[in-house]
Amino acid sequence: MIQNEGRDNCFSSHGRRGFGLLTAISIALPLHWSAEMGAASELSIVQSEVRNVLSKAKAAGVLRMAFHDAGTFDMDENSGGMNGSIVHELERPENAGLKKPFKVLEKAKREIEKSQQVSWADVIAVAGAEAVSLCGGPSIPVRLGREDARMPDPEGKLPEESLDASGLKRCFLKKGFSTQELVALSGAHTLGSKGFGNPVVFDNAYFKILLEKPWASSAGMSSMIGLPSDRALVEDDECLRWIKIYSADQVQFFEDFKSAYSKLVDSGAVWRSG
Ligand code: HEM
Ligand SMILES: *[C@@H]1O[C@H](CO)[C@@H](O)[C@H](O)[C@H]1NC(C)=O
Repeated sequence: MIQNEGRDNCFSSHGRRGFGLLTAISIALPLHWSAEMGAASELSIVQSEVRNVLSKAKAAGVLRMAFHDAGTFDMDENSGGMNGSIVHELERPENAGLKKPFKVLEKAKREIEKSQQVSWADVIAVAGAEAVSLCGGPSIPVRLGREDARMPDPEGKLPEESLDASGLKRCFLKKGFSTQELVALSGAHTLGSKGFGNPVVFDNAYFKILLEKPWASSAGMSSMIGLPSDRALVEDDECLRWIKIYSADQVQFFEDFKSAYSKLVDSGAVWRSG
């Protein structure tokens, strides 16, 4: 409409205004809508193919895979991050066990590619979110369009399980995550078999059980609960504050996990243009 302004065409100034408004409505809006609808249907195809290969038993591994792809991000170096490089890093010791989820998602990726292009980074980002919701966690919207890396990321960027709270905080800060986000994301360990409640239910059991410090008891299997990095969180006042909040309020945990996960799967992403 503005582009027409001042152009010497055959419309009277009175009529031109009406024409401009109409073209704006009839052209600009449908274009805008169809682009958005295209993106939405692209996402729903990725989601549904991922759901076809996912089960509750496979959810933990898939969510872990998302963290191991994205969690290599280093903000200062602008290296690592959610760029699908994990598929080149499966032999690394910290990625032991991730070949299974890789094979599972490979099937989904092949199916998706029968109708549209999709990157590993997008498949993994969506799959982690689907794993969470399949197990009863929040539903997390994931944007598509990440480009894949052709090479592995730099090594030694994922947090080691032997880190104490200040080491974990420093490590996450380098990736752009606050202490609160570190605690919320660590709640992912509610899935899997480290003893934080039902291994296939995504809830706030992780925080409730952390507060009980069951590993301090010598009774039975409880000494096996949690990784050193999980146990370290309760020993830190700032982390403890969030652990208490999330153990008392699952809705708050879900909200904060959702935001932190969205941030995680966008970190270091290189976006496809157009
Ligand atoms: C805070 C630092 C973290 C450390 C040191 C860490 C380390 C580990 C380790 C060593 C395991 C294997 C446990 C086993 O022996 O079975 C594990 C499992 C897992 N991690 Fe983490 N992790 C961290 C954060 C995260 C984050 C942020 C996520 C996701 C958002 C995540 C998702 C998972 C899941 C779902 C499992 C269970 C995998 C399965 O049972 O197959 N972790 N983590
Ligand atoms: C993405 O992948 C490449 C490897 O191809 C890696 O070197 C790079 O650091 C990664 N991250 C970013 C933010 O470019």
